[in-house]
Amino acid sequence: MLKTTHKIFLAFLLVLTVTFGVQAQESEQAEVAAKGVEPGSTEGAETGSADPAVIDAGAALFKNNCAVCHSAGSDVIVGPGLKGITGKRSEGWLIKWIKNSQALIQSGDADAIAIYNEYNKQAMPSFASLSDDDVKAILAYVDAQANVAAAAPTTVAGPEGAAPGANVGTDAIGAIGGYLDIVLVVLIIVLIVLVVTLLLITSLLKNYLNKNRQLDEADNEIVNQRFDFSKIYKSKAVRTLVLLIFVVVLVDLGLDKMMGIGIQQGYAPKQPIAFSHKLHAGEHQIDCSYCHTTVYESKSASIPSANICMNCHSQIKKESPEIQKIYRAIERNKPIEWVRIHNLPDLSYFNHSQHTQVGGVECQTCHGPIQEMDVVYQYSPLTMGWCIDCHRETPLNTEGNAYYDNLVKLHEQSSKGAFTVASNGGTECSKCHY
Ligand code: HEC
Ligand code: HEC
Ligand code: HEC
Ligand code: HEC
Ligand code: HEC
Ligand code: HEC
Repeated sequence: MLKTTHKIFLAFLLVLTVTFGVQAQESEQAEVAAKGVEPGSTEGAETGSADPAVIDAGAALFKNNCAVCHSAGSDVIVGPGLKGITGKRSEGWLIKWIKNSQALIQSGDADAIAIYNEYNKQAMPSFASLSDDDVKAILAYVDAQANVAAAAPTTVAGPEGAAPGANVGTDAIGAIGGYLDIVLVVLIIVLIVLVVTLLLITSLLKNYLNKNRQLDEADNEIVNQRFDFSKIYKSKAVRTLVLLIFVVVLVDLGLDKMMGIGIQQGYAPKQPIAFSHKLHAGEHQIDCSYCHTTVYESKSASIPSANICMNCHSQIKKESPEIQKIYRAIERNKPIEWVRIHNLPDLSYFNHSQHTQVGGVECQTCHGPIQEMDVVYQYSPLTMGWCIDCHRETPLNTEGNAYYDNLVKLHEQSSKGAFTVASNGGTECSKCHY
């Protein structure tokens, strides 16, 4: 007979096996669906003829070097979407272009000159450091993405008209992680099944021996010895292993947090004082520029000093512990250490007055519903693509400004579209980069 503790242990293992099994199957299905291939046909998962390892390498190269300006689909970011590019241009041409587009243009190549003019003579940077194979890997990745996008609508019951090219870049990278997960889960299942089978075999053997054999004292002891679980807990090796795993997980989580600072959409750090925009800018309707005093006049919006708070809080809510923190900062003559939320990298130039005062863009267009936030969070992605998209779409307010009259006339002769920020040079590199 099996001991009750053994039975419970076995039941527990079985439950684990089943749940892991279901999860693995589900994630496998999701993974396959995301790649736009029928479940079951693992062979077909890799589209195109290129080696998956090459495509992965291409994906990384593309993300690091090209994704700021190009999508792998058909969306225009700074340069054209690269979908179908290998059908449009020869491999030799592409290698020359990507390594040094200016040289190709200067050599008088008609296609190069045409595309250069089409994109307002914005010089694409040279990538002389990429080898021919690197470039081929990038192109293989772009092709693979196009195939994934083409296959997607037929098998994935997504919403009508969902842009197939969107987000494809992350799919491929996600899929690699997904496969690793699946491999891990399968390994765990195999291990568990092995343990269960071994336990079953031992208990069967034990029963058989006990019932059918005349055992002497020594044999009896060996057969019926009890497995001592406490030995496992006491073992040094096991303890060290558990500690090690714990530390690794902790460090990993910590790193993720640190890398995210200042660059993440949705970033909402805890502030030293529980200051609420919902209360001040929302309920009490204090004007943004009462506190962010320079937002209409200069590059930076400025964060209010404690003195501005004191205009009101020398009277209001004096006894509140949060307000006491403001007093303490003033006593110690130290600024309140607000945690910065929005932070563009140094290489880019952004000017508030140009957007709020001259352009008439509302704070909320970029910062979201600040007047409803108890804790401010980064509402917009603040990527280069985000800046440029808006410049492409937003018509410039030229009314009553004689400076623009000639420019607008010129623009109307050459193009049917509206006179946007981009038409006035708002996508030129030097406007946003020092
Ligand atoms: C800083 C922006 C920028 C980066 C980064 C960039 N490109 Fe470009 N690319 C452009 C622009 C702009 C054009 C349009 C032509 C022009 O104005 O020079 C272009 C054109 C192209 C073309 C020609 C498209 C056609 O229809 O003929 C290819 C191919 C291309 N880029 C590939 C790449 C690859 C691959 C990378 C990464 C290794 C890359 N680009 C990185 C801006 C960029
Ligand atoms: C009573 C003063 C006050 C008013 C009024 C106010 N703010 Fe603020 N704002 C602050 C303080 C203090 C901080 C820093 C603490 C924080 O992030 O909550 C801040 C932070 C911010 C930030 C984040 C800054 C960063 O670190 O990147 C934004 C964006 C912002 N405010 C926008 C607005 C807008 C838009 C309005 C008007 C709707 C507004 N604020 C009204 C005091 C004010
Ligand atoms: C123009 C006036 C005004 C200014 C300036 C102002 N506040 Fe306030 N603040 C108020 C009012 C009004 C309340 C709500 C009081 C209430 O609920 O009775 C308040 C409430 C608060 C509270 C909540 C206190 C509590 O315990 O309920 C905090 C914290 C606070 N303010 C922090 C700040 C900080 C920090 C600044 C400076 C960046 C600041 N305030 C600037 C008017 C102001
Ligand atoms: C066109 C988009 C846009 C608009 C409109 C805009 N902001 Fe910003 N804001 C940004 C960006 C981008 C940053 C990050 C700037 C940086 O890191 O250099 C920022 C940063 C800030 C900061 C942090 C301090 C600083 O200057 O870096 C505050 C505060 C702020 N904005 C308040 C406002 C207020 C108040 C308004 C409206 C009067 C406003 N913003 C309108 C895009 C915008
Ligand atoms: C919500 C729309 C919007 C967003 C987002 C936006 N801008 Fe603008 N930007 C404008 C408008 C509108 C103007 C034109 C202002 C004017 O009338 O001169 C402008 C003008 C500019 C100019 C001056 C262009 C010129 O021709 O002189 C620069 C530089 C600029 N923006 C940088 C940025 C940067 C950097 C970002 C991203 C961090 C950004 N903008 C995000 C709307 C936007
Ligand atoms: C409207 C403003 C704007 C224009 C125009 C613009 N950029 Fe940027 N660029 C940014 C901002 C903002 C960032 C930082 C945000 C990010 O990394 O996405 C950036 C980042 C970059 C980076 C660093 C990317 C990274 O991941 O670190 C490069 C390289 C770059 N831009 C090159 C260019 C070139 C070349 C051009 C001209 C074809 C150009 N940019 C035009 C706003 C602009």
